[in-house]
Amino acid sequence: MSNLQVNVAGVAFKNPVITASGCYGFGRDYEDMYPLSRLGGVSLKGMTYAERLGNPPPRIAETPSGMLNSVGLQNPGVEHFLAEDLPYLEKQDTVLIANIAGSTVEDYCRLAERLSETSIDMMELNISCPNVKEGGVAFGTSCQSAESIVRQVRKYCKKPLMVKLSPNVTDIVSIAQAVEAQGADAVSLINTLLGMRIDIESRRPILRNNVGGLSGPAVFPVAVRMVWQVANNVKIPVVGMGGIEKWQDAIEMMMAGASAIQMGAALFYDPMAPIKVIEGMDQWLDSHGVKNVADIVGTVRPW
Ligand code: FUM
Repeated sequence: MSNLQVNVAGVAFKNPVITASGCYGFGRDYEDMYPLSRLGGVSLKGMTYAERLGNPPPRIAETPSGMLNSVGLQNPGVEHFLAEDLPYLEKQDTVLIANIAGSTVEDYCRLAERLSETSIDMMELNISCPNVKEGGVAFGTSCQSAESIVRQVRKYCKKPLMVKLSPNVTDIVSIAQAVEAQGADAVSLINTLLGMRIDIESRRPILRNNVGGLSGPAVFPVAVRMVWQVANNVKIPVVGMGGIEKWQDAIEMMMAGASAIQMGAALFYDPMAPIKVIEGMDQWLDSHGVKNVADIVGTVRPW
């Protein structure tokens, strides 16, 4: 067996496979299939300080090799999470990543402060959700706004801080460098790509929010390209995600420069996908004589 352990921003993961925010809830739905302790980590559903009901339905649409979502950050709020979900998650022996969101900088700061007092291992600052009218991606599409929110949240966040980046920008490298300069400990990318579908009979958008975020295998090559570009231009670790469904994809993403990977849309059609990825990676590493999975990070040899 190869050593699958990786370290991201000082946090030790038993393997590099993390379930992506918004695709795994708070973990309980999967406990009958496998112990959560098999996973390297869980990035929890995007959380806000106060409860949010999310956007009106329909908020999911199928697309070729992917899906659009416009959930709108539905979540029960931090106090409910701390009372009802964290006690369960603390017993699962996996890295817990709180994905934090808000409408204002102040919302993010007080959430970061509250979660800093808890057993959460890491925070993932969500400045890339495309489905809310205030906050979300609005903070993540210019260097100035990204810098400003990271600078503020950094003061309140006493845990390792990973910033989740949007692909809906012209130059993702400059955004990554901007958040690194303000004290981000890691970046994760990519969140979803803004998309739209239309019902041709009603001539109405399928999503009630008109537009939504595209994820799934359709976005994988975009994600690999962006991870490769960012990893070559920052010093902090990069966590790669976007359309990973097979172990081969996970290895490819790590070769592009990701220190760990997240899996999202694949969970909806194959809940066992993360376990298959962990096992498949292990076999590939063994058969190629690679002792540590960390040794493949960034090993792509560009022409
Ligand atoms: O709409 C949502 O809840 C999605 C969040 C995200 O993409 O970060």
